[in-house]
Amino acid sequence: MSDPRPPQLELQIDSVAFGGKGVARLNGKVFFVPNSVPGDSVKAVVVEDSGRYATAKIESWTERSSLRQTSNCQYSDLCGGCDWQEIPYKTQLEWKRSFIESAFARISKIATPININMHGSSLEHSYRNRILLKARVSTTGNLTFGYFQRSSRDFVSVSKCDIATNRINQFLTELIKKRLPKLPNQEVKFRFEIQDLPLYQETEGHLALSVYDPDSKSLRAEDIIQYFSSFPQVKHCIHVHNQSDAMALNFDSQNGLNYLTLSGIFQQVNVAQNHVLRDYLNKLILPLNPKRILDIFCGSGNLSLQFAHKGIFVKGVEFSKKAITMAKLNLEKNNIEASEYHSFDAEKFLLREIKERQSYDVIIADPPREGMLKCLDSIVKINAKHIVYVSCDPTTLARDIAHLLKSNYEIVSVAGFDFFPQTYHIETVVCLRLKNA
Ligand SMILES: C[S@@+](CC[C@H](N)C(=O)[O-])C[C@H]1O[C@@H](n2cnc3c(N)ncnc32)[C@H](O)[C@@H]1O
Repeated sequence: MSDPRPPQLELQIDSVAFGGKGVARLNGKVFFVPNSVPGDSVKAVVVEDSGRYATAKIESWTERSSLRQTSNCQYSDLCGGCDWQEIPYKTQLEWKRSFIESAFARISKIATPININMHGSSLEHSYRNRILLKARVSTTGNLTFGYFQRSSRDFVSVSKCDIATNRINQFLTELIKKRLPKLPNQEVKFRFEIQDLPLYQETEGHLALSVYDPDSKSLRAEDIIQYFSSFPQVKHCIHVHNQSDAMALNFDSQNGLNYLTLSGIFQQVNVAQNHVLRDYLNKLILPLNPKRILDIFCGSGNLSLQFAHKGIFVKGVEFSKKAITMAKLNLEKNNIEASEYHSFDAEKFLLREIKERQSYDVIIADPPREGMLKCLDSIVKINAKHIVYVSCDPTTLARDIAHLLKSNYEIVSVAGFDFFPQTYHIETVVCLRLKNA
């Protein structure tokens, strides 16, 4: 009888791919190995094979990479949140740069190496001002919370999160010490999100919480909200399925502008690095002397409000109605009159703009990770002199850039912004210019 177990392979990890998996090569084949980094030697078995590529799962370690250091986080072996807690930050940034470089070379087919300015995060830990936790309440009222384990859907309980802000962690420490007054008749699971609002004083409460439905009727979302609201640091706590309770919260201010948010809408979670990105866009776009800027995938106006504030006409589009309500409120509260934000699907909105012969000097585009393939033909037709593409996925970015390069645009600059130290994530900003404009 043949052995049903797949053969064990001895793999030497020599690089890392966007997505955080280590990469090994053996007999002309590429193996992606989760939870490994360059310099690791592992014994692994293939769990998924697609011909030239395969994914392999580590069974044991022959050698650990000399790059690995003692982790800052006691849960980093187990928790699925961060991939690179053991890796020096400088190395993390080099790897992130390589993701952008290799995507441009492989997918955009740009032969000459591009110069990429990397902007590391000023905070390597304690930078995340919003976290989503899975929680459990025991029949004695004890609350435990945590994340998914690495490469699994199992729960791992934590008492703190290394990348969350100190004020979030102080709240977690208090939660562990106390008990819910209402006891469920069996263990209850639910999820909740904590957002740090750095502009509020300790005495006013500086956290906004959102509670998702628990999986039991013996402890309802309302009971949990009542309990969380009894903590003085909690300014606002809502049930996510009842957004009418949500109130606009001032969460950021920069260069004389205030930024409001609602729980549940997209927001960059590394506030300090978001300031660096806004400043960079300011320096990039203002010298172009734009009269009209189109901001597609604008959220609540995070990237373009600063231009509207300077008197440049901004039109923004975003399909989340709540985000647009906030973008409009951001205009109103900052006394900006001559700009507009619209709730619409970006692709349909662009077709309408072309039909109405609207013209723009600069297009800012910050799509979700799928990129904006369906918008590209329209973007090219708008014929803006400059496009500033902000992306959280180098692979879809490189695909879209290839399309724009074939459509009479050329690259002016490329920069990387690290919003998520200890993880493989990287934001890239590419500025393109219309040739012969
Ligand atoms: C990466 S976020 C950027 C938000 C904003 N620029 C910021 O910095 O906060 C992408 C945004 O695109 C929006 N979005 C996703 N698909 C969309 C579509 N088809 N049309 C319009 N907006 C969309 C999402 O709701 C989200 O707010």
